[in-house]
Amino acid sequence: MELNVERTYALGFDVYGTLVDPLALAEPLQALVGEQAVRFAELWRTKQLEYSFRRGLMQRYVDFDACTRQALLYTQQALRCDLPESDQGRLLETYLYLPTFPEVTAALTALKAQDHRLMAFTNGVEVSIRALLSNAGVLPYLEDVVSVDDLRTFKPDPAVYAYLARRAGHAPGDTWLVSSNAWDVIGAKAAGLRAAWVRRQPEAVFDPWDVEPDVVVSRLDELADWFAGQPT
Ligand code: LAC
Repeated sequence: MELNVERTYALGFDVYGTLVDPLALAEPLQALVGEQAVRFAELWRTKQLEYSFRRGLMQRYVDFDACTRQALLYTQQALRCDLPESDQGRLLETYLYLPTFPEVTAALTALKAQDHRLMAFTNGVEVSIRALLSNAGVLPYLEDVVSVDDLRTFKPDPAVYAYLARRAGHAPGDTWLVSSNAWDVIGAKAAGLRAAWVRRQPEAVFDPWDVEPDVVVSRLDELADWFAGQPT
């Protein structure tokens, strides 16, 4: 079915958790840390984000790859798993081979057919994100990769959302963030962008900050239908 839309936008897709699944690391972790694998993957991701928030606040920037590396060191200590350096290196390498969520390619295809400008918008370092998205097969669907690394700060600093709009060449009100992270959606809305929250788990809670997403979808492929259903 053709899903034509009257208005087109710049859509900035968060990467980790929205296009690709960082918790897929639980699988290779299984061989290294056994039954702690899921906990390990979750704590690693939580710490990675916490480190980016804290570094943003403290204005002590190191790039997201460094946050990921340091969060791995934290996690293995916290869970008493002493991984040899070779395993640490392999795990960090796996970060470049995370899989996309199953509907991503179809969703990007449908949104591109509606003439939206599709971009990745990420805390990640551009070269790492290009490698990751290329390995996952979705880089060709994206016009650009916009990284906060250019500004040496992290989401949800308002400056990075303004930067996305600027790079897209659209007004903030015509620029969308698409993210599974509620805190990212709130950051975008606070900066005057529009935002879609991808609520991948029904139990996910949106922070009660009196800010709402413009649309909530449970999978990315629902977004094209939503745009098609909007009044002109
Ligand atoms: C990103 C992280 C925050 O890709 O998910 O920006």
